[in-house]
Amino acid sequence: MSFLKKLFGNDQKEEVNMAQESLKIGIILGSTRQGRVSPQVGEWVKKLADERGDATYEIVDIAEYELPFLGTTDGTEPGIAAWNEKLASLDGFVFIAQEYNHSISGSLKNALDFARDAWYNKAAGIVSYGSTGGARAAEHLRGILGELKVADVRTHPTLSLFLDFENGQDFKPQDLHHANITAMLDEVNEWSTALKTIRK
Ligand SMILES: Cc1cc2nc3c(=O)[nH]c(=O)nc-3n(C[C@H](O)[C@H](O)[C@H](O)COP(=O)(O)O)c2cc1C
Repeated sequence: MSFLKKLFGNDQKEEVNMAQESLKIGIILGSTRQGRVSPQVGEWVKKLADERGDATYEIVDIAEYELPFLGTTDGTEPGIAAWNEKLASLDGFVFIAQEYNHSISGSLKNALDFARDAWYNKAAGIVSYGSTGGARAAEHLRGILGELKVADVRTHPTLSLFLDFENGQDFKPQDLHHANITAMLDEVNEWSTALKTIRK
């Protein structure tokens, strides 16, 4: 029996308690190409997130699911079901989004398209990178998330390929981003907690 239920002994408090149980937040690596830098960015976000101790954070690597291109197979590849199960197990997301031709990567779009209900009524933050901080990719991603009923939070850390990477490859983030990561995670956790109460 939960502490709150023991204390108050009513269902309403139990509901609040359930919503406050440790949130599971997936840090989704949006790129899958060989030589990609997204794992470096994702691990950095995870390290800062883990230091907070307020939720369970995990890296979710699209590449591991070996998703086919949507519609080109009969849809029985185990990775498709595993992808949906992983998303369903999460309460919120942080997208590591990189700019490809002024939008998100094809891999991320394909992975977004491969699930529906598993996205619904959850919150997300976006950490983007590119020559202009990946801002254009992030704005495209916000439009897609709206259709998937994912509530994307306002604070959006933007990393520069020129200022936060050496040779566009070795991730050396400037300290100034820490405050934005903190604010973004605060917002993701608040909204993830709230949205948990309306999911069946
Ligand atoms: C096909 C392609 C298109 C790109 N287009 C853009 C772009 O429009 N704007 C930009 O800022 N960077 C662009 N870039 C640079 C990427 O943002 C950069 O290579 C970044 O490291 C990609 O993320 P990844 O290493 O995780 O794959 C492009 C890269 C690729 C491979």
